[in-house]
Amino acid sequence: MDEAKTRARAAGVTVVDLSIGASDLPPPPEALEALKAATEWYGTRYGMQLDPATEALSLIGAQEGLAHALMAVADPGDGILMTDVAYPSYFGAGAQDFLPRLDQLGAADLARARVMLLNYPNNPTSAVATTEFFQAAVDLCRKYGILLIHDNPYIDLCVLELFSFAKSYHLGGFRLGFALGCREAVASLEALKAPIDFNQYKGIMRMGVACLKLPREVVRRDAGVWQRRAEVMAGALRGKGCEVQMPTAGMYLWIRLPPGVDDDVAFCQHLVSYTGVALSPGQGFGPGGRGYVRVALVAREEALEEAAGRIAAAMRQAEQEARAKAAAVSGHFPASNADVAA
Ligand SMILES: Cc1ncc(COP(=O)(O)O)c(C=O)c1O
Repeated sequence: MDEAKTRARAAGVTVVDLSIGASDLPPPPEALEALKAATEWYGTRYGMQLDPATEALSLIGAQEGLAHALMAVADPGDGILMTDVAYPSYFGAGAQDFLPRLDQLGAADLARARVMLLNYPNNPTSAVATTEFFQAAVDLCRKYGILLIHDNPYIDLCVLELFSFAKSYHLGGFRLGFALGCREAVASLEALKAPIDFNQYKGIMRMGVACLKLPREVVRRDAGVWQRRAEVMAGALRGKGCEVQMPTAGMYLWIRLPPGVDDDVAFCQHLVSYTGVALSPGQGFGPGGRGYVRVALVAREEALEEAAGRIAAAMRQAEQEARAKAAAVSGHFPASNADVAA
């Protein structure tokens, strides 16, 4: 049917599409109220006014929005530009300080690309991007007619931003988010979603509206909790000899395993079976994550400190085993256990 409709339209026929039961009636006021709250919140937060009717859409979480946005705006064969480690819903290539090297993108890749997918502050690396980086990304996307989809702050006409209530408002299980920005992308996403889901339950939308109207101090207070937890965890790990970078934002530590320890999956499996501490192996976020682990700071400070001790001990043990293995392979057996532990 889709092909038949396309052929008819191409032949100049005005198609009255009665083939899909996607309602042509206006959405319920509660839905618009949520979109109004989202655009007002965006205006206050980022100083940009958006039209709730055409530049905003409620989502059943950012993940749902992202999956459907890609289906809505890209066709088979279109390129999607992504980073080498990324939230598992999307995968890709080439980064420095966990920011993609925009200057190294080839002309052929840019010509084929329909979407550039960014996420800063980043999951899993906690990397943040500067305004200059975003400006360069927006300029590049404009030049090549690429839609920039961003899982957070910066907006422009060629940008679709996805917001989630899972992190700032801790409502992950309720499944609520919204998409803001590029009118055409919002319209395509809305058309694709209409026959798939019928908006989130109104009560949950009202909850979202209430969250967006909370004073900003509430979100700031919680950001302070993530920051303190990061300091506690990074401090405890460093105190035990591990190298850890403090994140600038976000709720994760992205840690390189010790030299010689590259199998992050085996490390995490061993760690959880022997100590009960479960981390995410870096490879779960793409091939560039090999040799890294992600620590989600989702426990109280005392529990994080305790976990840090176990993680550090497991890292030390894995490093010693890797050294002993390397020495055995090269034929230089360590003279004593003291050499192994050095
Ligand atoms: C970058 C990123 N996008 C999307 C999501 C999922 O958000 P939601 O629960 O709103 O689907 C997460 C959750 O961890 C995330 O880190």
